[in-house]
Amino acid sequence: MSEVSKEQSGARVPGPASAPGEPVVSKAAGSAGSGGAGEPFLSVRDLRIHFQTDDGLVKSVDGVSFDVEAGKTLGIVGESGSGKSVTSLGVMGLHRSANAAISGEVWLDGEELVGADPDHVRRLRGRKMAMIFQDPLSAMHPYYRIGAQIVEAYRVHHKVGKKVARTRAIEMLDRVGIPEPHKRVDSYPHEFSGGMRQRAMIAMALVNNPELLIADEPTTALDVTVQAQILDLIRDLQKEFGSAVIMITHDLGVVAEMADDLLVMYGGRCIERGPAEKVFYEPQHPYTWGLLGSMPRIDREQTDRLIPVKGQPPSLINVPQGCAFNPRCPYADVPKDGITRTERPELKQVGAGHHSACHMSQEERTKIWTEEIAPKL
Ligand SMILES: Nc1ncnc2c1ncn2[C@@H]1O[C@H](COP(=O)(O)OP(=O)(O)OP(=O)(O)O)[C@@H](O)[C@H]1O
Ligand code: SF4
Ligand SMILES: [Mg+2]
Repeated sequence: MSEVSKEQSGARVPGPASAPGEPVVSKAAGSAGSGGAGEPFLSVRDLRIHFQTDDGLVKSVDGVSFDVEAGKTLGIVGESGSGKSVTSLGVMGLHRSANAAISGEVWLDGEELVGADPDHVRRLRGRKMAMIFQDPLSAMHPYYRIGAQIVEAYRVHHKVGKKVARTRAIEMLDRVGIPEPHKRVDSYPHEFSGGMRQRAMIAMALVNNPELLIADEPTTALDVTVQAQILDLIRDLQKEFGSAVIMITHDLGVVAEMADDLLVMYGGRCIERGPAEKVFYEPQHPYTWGLLGSMPRIDREQTDRLIPVKGQPPSLINVPQGCAFNPRCPYADVPKDGITRTERPELKQVGAGHHSACHMSQEERTKIWTEEIAPKL
């Protein structure tokens, strides 16, 4: 069984008791649960994950809320260190280490998981929710054969014999593009290349047809053909089993192709979220403008000018007061009616299901977007 999916020891440390969350504004029916008719399969409310370190309190995730409906894909984008992986590990209940303080609510199919018994949450991992980890080594045990690990992951949730489970493991290895899967099933992780290990880990995540799949940079180390194969596999899972998918990626091509909704993270917070086509083609936050400009896109010639987001991401120990993007924002000095620099912008509705956390008026943003930004992208 994987290192990560084994029980993580350590008691749950209560988070900030009544920290104000961002408004719940999307399709969710509030915080009274989820998973019922018309309610999202996954509903995350005001999730905070802080780590106590020698340097101070690291606010890796600081009040994030979002929903994912069954059969839909949420794309999460943001620079390195913005809290994407910590958010997803939090949803999976994998941050129960002693230095982690977790608060907020994670509703999965009507069950709240942050306050749930860790043993119960562990039992949900695999069948109900599974994760493709950014680092394949962290998900596979080095001393056990690849096939044995997939067999065990399958048998935890299915009452089948070893032979049936082995056949299933070989089938999954084949589906993720491992050559000669009937032979490679008996390899150890170190006998696989990095790309093959990643594919084997994907096979393990998908073996139980999870209802929620979190894919954290699932295709980064893979070549284009295998990448397409993996994305097809995830689409098949979604089509066949109506799975909800969270896709964390730096590749906007993948986001444009796969995501129904998009969430942009900055400094441990959500600064924009909404339907993918809106966030992609009518973004409403200066950071999203920069991010879109600096990311390679399959629909743009490589020779076109890319606009990098200047400056460094904020320290998560000393997040700037007010808007965390302020030190890097080209529009920080645009006058904002009666709002001081120390006032933090909360997510506000800017369109149907579309929210952005910026103090600029809608008129100002629209003007800058249409006149300055869009023509350059
Ligand atoms: N256990 C921990 N203790 C202290 N800080 C942590 C811990 N885990 C993560 N962090 C910090 O939380 C922040 C967010 O990390 P995270 O891995 O979520 O970033 P990310 O958005 O996934 O980045 P990348 O795109 O590079 O994968 C980082 O600054 C990281 O150093
Ligand atoms: S609130 Fe101000 S600093 Fe922050 S993104 Fe908007 S314009 Fe830039
Ligand atoms: Mg990450």
